Amino acid sequence: MLRTHTCGELNMAHVGQEVTLTGWLQRSRDMGGLTFIDLRDRYGITQLVFNMEVNSALCVEARKLGREFVLSVKGKVAERSNKNAKMATGDIEILVGSFSVLNVSKTPPFTIEENTDGGEELRMKYRYLDLRRNMNLKNLELRHKMGIETRNYLNNQQFLEIETPYMIKSTPEGARDFVVPSRMNPGQFYALPQSPQQFKQLLMVAGFDRYFQIVRCFRDEDLRADRQPEFTQIDCEMSFITQEDILNTFEGLTKHLFRSVLNIEMGDFPRMSFDQAMKLYGSDKPDLRFEMTFTELNELVKGKNFKVFDEAELIVGINARGCSEYSRKQLDELTDFVKRPQVGASGLVYLRYNLDGTVKSSVDKFYTPEDLKAILSKFNAQLGDLILILAGKEEKTRTALGTLRLELGKRLGLIRKGDFKPLWVIDFPLLEWDDETRRYYAKHHPFTAPKPEDIPLLDTDTGAVRANAYDLVINGSEVGGGSIRIHNKELQKKMFSVLGYSEEEAADQFGFLMNAFEYGAPPHGGIAFGFDRLTTVFAGAESIRDFIAFPKNNSGRDVMIDSPAPIKLEQLNELGIKLVK
Ligand code: AMO
Repeated sequence: MLRTHTCGELNMAHVGQEVTLTGWLQRSRDMGGLTFIDLRDRYGITQLVFNMEVNSALCVEARKLGREFVLSVKGKVAERSNKNAKMATGDIEILVGSFSVLNVSKTPPFTIEENTDGGEELRMKYRYLDLRRNMNLKNLELRHKMGIETRNYLNNQQFLEIETPYMIKSTPEGARDFVVPSRMNPGQFYALPQSPQQFKQLLMVAGFDRYFQIVRCFRDEDLRADRQPEFTQIDCEMSFITQEDILNTFEGLTKHLFRSVLNIEMGDFPRMSFDQAMKLYGSDKPDLRFEMTFTELNELVKGKNFKVFDEAELIVGINARGCSEYSRKQLDELTDFVKRPQVGASGLVYLRYNLDGTVKSSVDKFYTPEDLKAILSKFNAQLGDLILILAGKEEKTRTALGTLRLELGKRLGLIRKGDFKPLWVIDFPLLEWDDETRRYYAKHHPFTAPKPEDIPLLDTDTGAVRANAYDLVINGSEVGGGSIRIHNKELQKKMFSVLGYSEEEAADQFGFLMNAFEYGAPPHGGIAFGFDRLTTVFAGAESIRDFIAFPKNNSGRDVMIDSPAPIKLEQLNELGIKLVK
């Protein structure tokens, strides 16, 4: 080893010892007779001291060193006169006897400190420098711990980690595929897996019984703070189980992670049906860190000549407690917020329950003071509350109010840092109707089993069929999802027909799975956690990018290696690909 200790471990117990440290020069300060250098490695920072009076030549050499130079330093550990309680090594410093420069460094394009001056694009370009910052180091350490503890837990529960292929076949469901051309089969393409879904089901047919894999998945979809084109799943599947067994096993995994990584003992996770989540929170991934549930007003407010309400499918509101004194400007801001195309509401109705007991609303023209009081009482409003109401098409209005609820939660500071509120959302609809293509799509994927009692509805009331499908939501983030699978060939065939596949199309796309199901498929089901998301939620952070060593930017580019990039004409020719302009 080139060092005796790391930059994070020396303390008063080492005073007087001769040590050798290696690391990067974080910062140097010239104080006349003394020069201080902060030496950094993965484990921490140690202060080096060069004394002009003790060794002026060495001190002069030290003053020539630049930021991010790689150094090897020999010296004696001494107690500091000016201790720094915030640093693990803040009680000591190294009186340097000699040093050597292991490597020089160009001046980095941004400061490598907690609050760096580098913009996001620049830091992404020099990601290897950005990763030297403590915040990023801690994030990847957390991710590592979560991975190890996941493996520990699943290993103890008899799960086998099995790898599945990355070069598979494109399927039309779900997001767009990333494809890879095959040189040996001109004009043909592999697809990168959006998840190992079909392979893990085949592993169940093979009898593996309990499978997991911490695995990369690829989806060509629009990016957001919680989405990357390549991301990692903790992918799991089990045989001979019920939905209840899956929920318990993976609630167990999540609790184990909270306990072993964050030292938090979690109680049992609540459960809520998809319908209830939509009705109460306007979201299938409600953030339960604050209340503010929805109140529906259809019966109460229709028939009073207010056209917007009379024509609406749904009139629904929330109570922003203690906000009756919101200014006109604040209310306009909220109105603009809900009218943004991403939210999509046509307007916002408000009722102030003033502290003096009077009620003032934006619909005073249509409603008597008694009418307004009746609305307030439906919300259990107290003096000082502000009621915000949206109206319109049912689904859209719920979702828009859900977005407003989250915005208010943030603005009113209702979300406490360090608070974790998990929730199982269950009983998802099996299918989703698409107006544009005029057909049903699988809400989860086409292998998800309908609830047995809803199977007869497949022909009569298709949209109402519920699935044995579930999501795990923590703090409003969907951190995992899964389902019980169809293991019966006839039911799977039926499902493909409901999804509009002809028998040939189904056989072409999923024939191998259907065939496999003819050889004794066990009852099975599973779940996949978004590993990047789960880690992000554990850290109380927002963007999964901060928990991925080399992420893509918002346009799906890796700006460090400059990819995607064109390839040479010879390569294209070899692959039999012609570019059509
Ligand atoms: P699903 O599509 O719900 O299910 O994905 C499982 C979990 O993966 C995470 N996730 C993502 N994370 C980051 N970037 C993305 N682009 C992204 N897309 C999804 C989410 C999500 O809950 N095969 C099924 C699982 C199963 O049925 O067992 C599947 O992939 O946290």
